[in-house]
Amino acid sequence: MNYEVPKKKITMPGLRKLFRLYSYIKPYKYEYGLGLLFLLGSSSASLAFPKLLGELVDLGNQGKLAQEINRIALILIAVLVGQSVFSYFRVYLFVSVAEKTLADLRQSTFNHLIRLPMKFFQFRRVGELNSRISSDITLLQDALTSTLAEFLRQLIIIIGGVSLMMVTSLKLTLFMLLILPVIMILVVFFGRYIRKLSKEAQKQVADSNTIVEETLQGIQSVKAFTNEYFEMLRYKGKTIEIAETGIKNGKLRGAFSSFTILGLFGAMVAVIWKGSQLLAAGELATGELFSFVIYSMFIGGTIGGMADVFARVQKFIGATEDLLEIFNEPVEEVEEIESLPAEQILHGSIRFNNLSFSYPTRTETEVLHKISVAIKPDTLVALVGPSGAGKSTFVSLLLRLYNPTSGQILFDEKESLSIPISALRSQMAIVPQDIFLFGGTVRENIAYGKTGASDEMIVEAARKANAWEFISQFPEGFETLVGERGTQLSGGQRQRIAIARAVLKDPKILILDEATSSLDSESERLVQDALEKLMKGRTSIVIAHRLSTIRQADNILVMDSGRIIEQGTHEELLLVDNGLYRNLSELQFAG
Ligand SMILES: Nc1ncnc2c1ncn2[C@@H]1O[C@H](COP(=O)(O)OP(=O)(O)O)[C@@H](O)[C@H]1O
Ligand SMILES: [Mg+2]
Repeated sequence: MNYEVPKKKITMPGLRKLFRLYSYIKPYKYEYGLGLLFLLGSSSASLAFPKLLGELVDLGNQGKLAQEINRIALILIAVLVGQSVFSYFRVYLFVSVAEKTLADLRQSTFNHLIRLPMKFFQFRRVGELNSRISSDITLLQDALTSTLAEFLRQLIIIIGGVSLMMVTSLKLTLFMLLILPVIMILVVFFGRYIRKLSKEAQKQVADSNTIVEETLQGIQSVKAFTNEYFEMLRYKGKTIEIAETGIKNGKLRGAFSSFTILGLFGAMVAVIWKGSQLLAAGELATGELFSFVIYSMFIGGTIGGMADVFARVQKFIGATEDLLEIFNEPVEEVEEIESLPAEQILHGSIRFNNLSFSYPTRTETEVLHKISVAIKPDTLVALVGPSGAGKSTFVSLLLRLYNPTSGQILFDEKESLSIPISALRSQMAIVPQDIFLFGGTVRENIAYGKTGASDEMIVEAARKANAWEFISQFPEGFETLVGERGTQLSGGQRQRIAIARAVLKDPKILILDEATSSLDSESERLVQDALEKLMKGRTSIVIAHRLSTIRQADNILVMDSGRIIEQGTHEELLLVDNGLYRNLSELQFAG
């Protein structure tokens, strides 16, 4: 279970990725643009504020008429009202765009994820992917709404503030600008380090979530093996790691903020010191110094806030990188199948041509070796052999869940890679060895075989699969909830639901991977009867553990260690001296 997540070195700069993400905003560009306009409005209003206050002070200082003082005060009130209205619309518009963008982003991430080939999922854990969709995207929400707006606001205030200060006093502004860049450089330097740490923290949180998820999913096994304490310890270890990284992060952030405070107040003292000198020399009016100080405070606070935004942007880039890594994986060419064109309809003939295969996670071990075998249309072919021989792998390749390492599979003598993958899969149905039911009702689970099937069709399929008997005995019948992953049903019931699902699909090629293994002999006989009827007019591939179930097969393929070592009918194979089939058969029928 410990598949390593491959780490990819990302060379493209993070900012370019960030902009790629902004393409999701495009459909809402007018709304977004309007939001930016309001942002501009509210920021310029806040810039006008110190200037007007300074004028007010000067008027008082010069002993002007109350009327003139009131006029400026009224303007100030108008600016205030304007600013609050702008702020409302700015926040509202940005949130609205961000929510819509996020919905799109969530959808496209999920849509992409679900179309990725099996190979991809071999390397990833469900918990990890889940946190991509939940927490990473939530992080992006923060970034898309507040962070960018905040950044722009800060930029406007700094640029606008500095320009207005220059108008007020060039000398004093230049003096201030001597101090400012030093602080800025240190801010950037610090921020970079904080980014590294937050990415680490995010990964640790994802790891700890994985533990919780896997433990809860397998809670029955945890309890059965009394591994509660083992799991507690495992989780404890992770949480302590998270806390340690967090604390380290916190120390740095603390240092960061005390550094900014020191720098900013120091700068303030320096500015007022210089300003007083200018005031004394008559180069500056009182009101001007007043508004200058307010501007400096404004800009100082903004620079301080910028560090926070910077850290958030860093986090954002971290989350984006992880997310885009998923987007960079090529998807399978899946498509919705409504009706199949004639040339894509399968007639049920299958041929493996010199096919070899190893799983992407274990490329060094070959699971299937040079398999060549032909399956005639509408026949029943059985696959037998010891566990681990490669039987389930054989059928996975048939479904093109994986592609062969070498050799081909041909359907009706057509190379399988040349047939669209969805067309191919839509004509096959599998009752897999590990049956997976979704948490909904019995009906929903059967209907999964063919979305949009009518109730009659569902009942019919349940009857054919011999599932009707037990379903009708449930008080809620088809509406019975099967529990998470079907845990509230017995193994045999789950199998019959899975068979009904396959029946409903009415495939040309039917695959049963030990589909009757969890049934008692009585139900097995019933299902067997059903399956026999079912197999008419299609090619059936049956993997069976109990040889009694496949005696009537047209061809039996005996597999061992990834090779087909014998084939023939039951009678033919019994004649093979020292043959594997004969041995297995003697073992099973001895009792
Ligand atoms: N998803 C997988 N990734 C890597 N190896 C696998 C995977 N599934 C099965 N294997 C390996 O492939 C071999 C054949 O497995 P399988 O086809 O399931 O055998 P069978 O169905 O005959 O019991 C086994 O050695 C097994 O460990
Ligand atoms: Mg198997």
